[in-house]
Amino acid sequence: MAFTIAIDGPAAAGKGTISRAVAAHFGFAHLDTGLLYRAVGVRMLEGTDPVEAAATLTPADLERGDLRGAAAAQAASRVATIPEVRSALLDFQRAFARRAGGAVLDGRDIGTVICPEAEAKLFVTASAEVRARRRHAELRAAGSDMTYDAVLADVLDRDARDRDRSTAPLIAADDAVLIDTSAMDIAAAIAAAITAIDARR
Ligand code: C5P
Repeated sequence: MAFTIAIDGPAAAGKGTISRAVAAHFGFAHLDTGLLYRAVGVRMLEGTDPVEAAATLTPADLERGDLRGAAAAQAASRVATIPEVRSALLDFQRAFARRAGGAVLDGRDIGTVICPEAEAKLFVTASAEVRARRRHAELRAAGSDMTYDAVLADVLDRDARDRDRSTAPLIAADDAVLIDTSAMDIAAAIAAAITAIDARR
């Protein structure tokens, strides 16, 4: 039986951590849809037309080691404004969402565009400063020497581009449960997500 959990929200709000924990808790498959846009973004940086890259994405593209960095994130948010890129990635995400056995998808437009019929929708957010602090710590741990100010600028820049684009802008679905993780630790955020999803089951 299909059961879709849609988890949307801005960059570095904790969607990834929450999504992985929720998927493990319910025994569902998980898709980080940001990786699709990051993979298209890095192929664009290498000179491939982004629409062509989106139409020909392979599993190997999603396993590249350079998808988590700031360059890939910025390129992702640029290709994500192109309607043809978004439509080329639609069928794969929709099929994943409705797979038998349950699915968790995290991104920007899962509850609004990819799977408006999702049984449970969460919108995970946090202040820009908290998100930048968390992302800065992650990047530092991975060996990056990016400053906090540069990470904050990246987060604000991507927020603006994601919210202001005309196709599938970042916005909470009307029926999404809002989880603000600004003052929560990871365990509290995961618990809040599981409680909200249990209420829909
Ligand atoms: O979630 P993540 O930070 O990996 O996403 C990278 C970029 O991909 C986002 O800034 C956004 O522009 C884009 N994206 C999107 N729709 C999604 C997931 C990601 O537009 N469902």
